[in-house]
Amino acid sequence: MQLPLPKGIDATKVLESIDPAKDVDGFHPVNAGRLASGDLDRALVPCTPAGSMILLRRAAEKLGVKLAGLDAVVVGRSNIVGKPMAQLLLAENCTVTVAHSRSRDLPGVVGRADVVVAAVGRPEMIAGDWIKPGAIVIDVGINRIPAPEKGLDAQGRAKTRLVGDVAFAEAKTRAGAITPVPGGVGPMTIAMLMANTLTAAERAARR
Ligand SMILES: NC(=O)c1ccc[n+]([C@@H]2O[C@H](COP(=O)([O-])OP(=O)(O)OC[C@H]3O[C@@H](n4cnc5c(N)ncnc54)[C@H](OP(=O)(O)O)[C@@H]3O)[C@@H](O)[C@H]2O)c1
Repeated sequence: MQLPLPKGIDATKVLESIDPAKDVDGFHPVNAGRLASGDLDRALVPCTPAGSMILLRRAAEKLGVKLAGLDAVVVGRSNIVGKPMAQLLLAENCTVTVAHSRSRDLPGVVGRADVVVAAVGRPEMIAGDWIKPGAIVIDVGINRIPAPEKGLDAQGRAKTRLVGDVAFAEAKTRAGAITPVPGGVGPMTIAMLMANTLTAAERAARR
């Protein structure tokens, strides 16, 4: 199922009609429940958080740090990114905080984090100087902003460019590792869709 669906179609009904064993997006309540209860061997995990975890594990390995016990902050609590990301971090034994639009003192919350996952959808909202020196930053956000410096398109409108939820140039000077936008989490999401498809096929073959 490709979201969003056209108006008038109930996405929940369509989603629940998918066989959980073929739910390669990991959005079916059975897979969400398995992830929430820590049954990672049977869950199909949503692609963006699954890909983010691979980037995070590799960054931690390169920096020589163990994820267990680190303070992780996920900014955003959507069902497709924020919540499953928080559960995966918990499964890695991080101490997890989930921040959202009602959170108080976001700079302070982010500033205490060894791991920051930004999944908000607001261009460069997380300032570079919020980042704790050495923190690992996974920027999930994909935001298109006007880029007048690139000139005009065929319709005479200003061209655009993609930025993340984190002010990359500034954050890069403080972070131990940071994912770029574009070219960071986005390609991992696509790769994980393939990985989930393979996992689902292997499980079906074993059954
Ligand atoms: N790289 C990829 O492959 C990939 C995949 C999926 C999504 N994305 C991108 O990731 C971003 C998030 O996607 P999503 O689907 O999770 O978005 P979403 O469903 O719109 O959720 C956004 C979350 O951000 C929170 N938020 C909004 N304004 C905030 C603020 N000022 N301070 C703190 N939190 C705030 C919201 O809080 P409330 O819950 O309180 O409203 C909500 O939980 C978007 O840019 C999207 O394009 C990228």
